[in-house]
Amino acid sequence: MTQLNATDAYIAGLPKAELHLHIEGSLEPEQMFEFAQRNKMITPFDSVEAVRAAYDFSNLQDFLDIYYAGANVLQTEQDFHDMALAYFRRAAADNVRHAEIFFDPQTHTDRGLPFSVAADGLLAGMKSAEAELGVTSKLILCFLRHLDEDAAFDTLKASEPWLDRIVGVGLDSSEVGHPPSKFERVFARAGDMGLKRVAHAGEEGPPAYVHEALDLLHIDRMDHGNRSMEDEALIERLADSQMTLTVCPLSNLKLCVVRDLKDHPVPEMLRRGLHVTLNSDDPAYFGGYVNQNYSQLAQAVGLTRDQVTQMARNSFEGSFLTEAEKAARIAEVEAYAAAT
Ligand code: ADE
Ligand code: ZN
Repeated sequence: MTQLNATDAYIAGLPKAELHLHIEGSLEPEQMFEFAQRNKMITPFDSVEAVRAAYDFSNLQDFLDIYYAGANVLQTEQDFHDMALAYFRRAAADNVRHAEIFFDPQTHTDRGLPFSVAADGLLAGMKSAEAELGVTSKLILCFLRHLDEDAAFDTLKASEPWLDRIVGVGLDSSEVGHPPSKFERVFARAGDMGLKRVAHAGEEGPPAYVHEALDLLHIDRMDHGNRSMEDEALIERLADSQMTLTVCPLSNLKLCVVRDLKDHPVPEMLRRGLHVTLNSDDPAYFGGYVNQNYSQLAQAVGLTRDQVTQMARNSFEGSFLTEAEKAARIAEVEAYAAAT
């Protein structure tokens, strides 16, 4: 058994929320093979080891090509249920008490699956997780930004029967060349429908895209946001508004957004007063669930215990729980910090 150092042990027991998690990115190679076999599909890989060896990415697009191919094994509601429950079991082991998970309906509907297969399967998995593990969750529907806005409108329309169980919309996939402005109208519609709005911004895209996500999409929370640090006015704006950033250190390392975790912008973000949270993004592809993101970053940049606690507190504050629910979860963080 490996001995945890004091920081890792503190992180392990700290109650936290995860706010940036693509459920399709939690599909571990072992489960990919299991689903391929039960759905009588052929995979392009011979073994789990060969799949893992292929997870060597130079940029976001390199990863997305493999990630969309991996999602093809998801065929039935049972597959979506089982994938989600497997994620929640790992998250619960990391003391994640609440998760707001993304799914990419177009990845599934574009290959002929009805919207209901993904949505009902995931919602069932979320329900199983709450019953089995006590982990609460919310579901966010992401539009694929490499597709056009009409396709996003079609997806929003298809989601209508589920909108009482979907908390918001997001924007993901290939960022550069697909600015937030492309989705201004569909985000306005989603807002009118009472949905929360989040968007990936400044992962690979320039600070101008971050400004657009704020000004045109009226986001409630920002996914990544790394490149905001290149723009002084933007840093001040994010600090003043206390916009929650869902930062993903191991993703940034694997997708070459940073060269080394030692160069990660989180310490500077915290120093400038930004409302940072730590998350795993696509843990099956990036080599770690949420606690690994905290631990490896803490090790690389020397986070203090107070900084770690602050980011866990931020994760509940930045969630879409009610104010009363947030207060109860934050009280658990404070009790843990005081007792540990
Ligand atoms: N889809 C899944 N993971 C993503 C990421 N990190 N950036 C953009 N789209 C994604
Ligand atoms: Zn992401």
